[in-house]
Amino acid sequence: MSKTVAMEDIVSLTKRRGFIYQGSELYGGLSGTWDYGPLGIQLKRNISNAWWKFFVEDRDDTYGIDAAILMNQKVWQASGHVDGFSDPLVEDMVNKKRHRADHLLEDAGVENVAAMSTEQMNQAFKDNNIKSPDGNELSEIRQFNMMFQTNVGAIQDETSVSYLRPETAQGMFVNFKNIVDSFSPNIPFATAQIGKAFRNEISPRDFIFRVREFEQMEIEVFAHPDNWREVFDEWLELQKQFYLSIGLPEEKLHFIDVPAEDRAHYSKHSIDSEFDYIIGQKELGGCAYRTDHDLSAHMKHSGKNLEYRPKDGSPAFVPHVIEPTFGLDRLVLAVIDSSYVEDEVNGEKRVYLKLPKHLAPVKVAVSPLLKNKPELVEKAREVYAQLKKDIGSVMWDDNGNIGKRYRRQDEIGTPYCVVIDFDSLEDNSVTVRHRDTTEQERVAISDLVGKIS
Ligand code: GAP
Repeated sequence: MSKTVAMEDIVSLTKRRGFIYQGSELYGGLSGTWDYGPLGIQLKRNISNAWWKFFVEDRDDTYGIDAAILMNQKVWQASGHVDGFSDPLVEDMVNKKRHRADHLLEDAGVENVAAMSTEQMNQAFKDNNIKSPDGNELSEIRQFNMMFQTNVGAIQDETSVSYLRPETAQGMFVNFKNIVDSFSPNIPFATAQIGKAFRNEISPRDFIFRVREFEQMEIEVFAHPDNWREVFDEWLELQKQFYLSIGLPEEKLHFIDVPAEDRAHYSKHSIDSEFDYIIGQKELGGCAYRTDHDLSAHMKHSGKNLEYRPKDGSPAFVPHVIEPTFGLDRLVLAVIDSSYVEDEVNGEKRVYLKLPKHLAPVKVAVSPLLKNKPELVEKAREVYAQLKKDIGSVMWDDNGNIGKRYRRQDEIGTPYCVVIDFDSLEDNSVTVRHRDTTEQERVAISDLVGKIS
């Protein structure tokens, strides 16, 4: 690699090539939101489809669901989010900018911030004479609830309050009984869901790493309390296997045992998965032992029995939950980040995305060598139509000269470029150019699909 890659390089490539745009860019943007363009959504779908296949389709013990984003406000009262889902906020006394208090303390080198009470954090600001990033005095800390609140229906009072869900998990807890009633699963079994989650982050940052609207892929595994450890270890291992299956380098993955003071309020044991992003080692996902926290809370608040009754007649119990959770946007970032390569070809700088083939948004680009030769275009169109039918994600590309086309396809991570030239008209073969090596080989049109897929 010729230079250290920076986040700006990735932001710039993803915008230029139609992966990710700033949200509401036309109006100056909306902080913490990003829009996926045609190639970005295809990459994101390829990752989420791989996840769904790995955890739902290929297994007998996992039930996929898709719950509504808006839920009865009692769900969030029971889960503890109404009272407890907050971050500590401080305000710059001069320019009124708001900052995460814990981030400012950590940036100033204060240790064990996660274990501190609000009072202790206030004291740490004073003891260390910490100012805002703009050098101004800061307000006292106040707790800021991160849920986006809205009203459902025409009447706006406290009975109509609802929230954009801050995690997909609760949609699965409130459907636990439905799944048991419909499918009578043996325990342990799991539910899985992919969907949007929303958090009014105080300071969104680092591109799609910390945003206000994002996608989660979560699994709730329901187990007997005596068995939780074994089930936890099994699903943590599956989580690792999934990361590897989408090409994340093993040496960039770290599994961190989260100390008690840093864990979410519902967790008795958590292993965070962290990844070496360009911006440093940061959280990618996690696996938490949520005990019976959620099911017992929903049982209490709803008055409904959420116990599981084993088929062998042994006593009913409230299942304990193991939760592997994945941030889809963070996986997209990790995949792009670890695929971004700069090298030199024939003395010229080249940037390419070394995406695993099954994730590449475009699998093959098809070009006529010259676009002003109708016989080449006609033959190339035939090959394109055939590949499109057999492979699907195929792009027609006749813009600019062949060198430019290769550069463009390299930048979007297309593994193969197929070029139809004058020899193709004679011998029914084409040139296949490989992204990673830039090597070219001659392949018979009849062998193309087998060769590429
Ligand atoms: N149901 C458990 C839960 O929501 P979490 O650690 O708060 O746990 C799970 O979130 C995952 O969601 C994180 O590991 C991360 O990948 C992703 N995530 C959380 N907040 C995010 C944000 N503001 N922007 C992007 N992804 C986020």
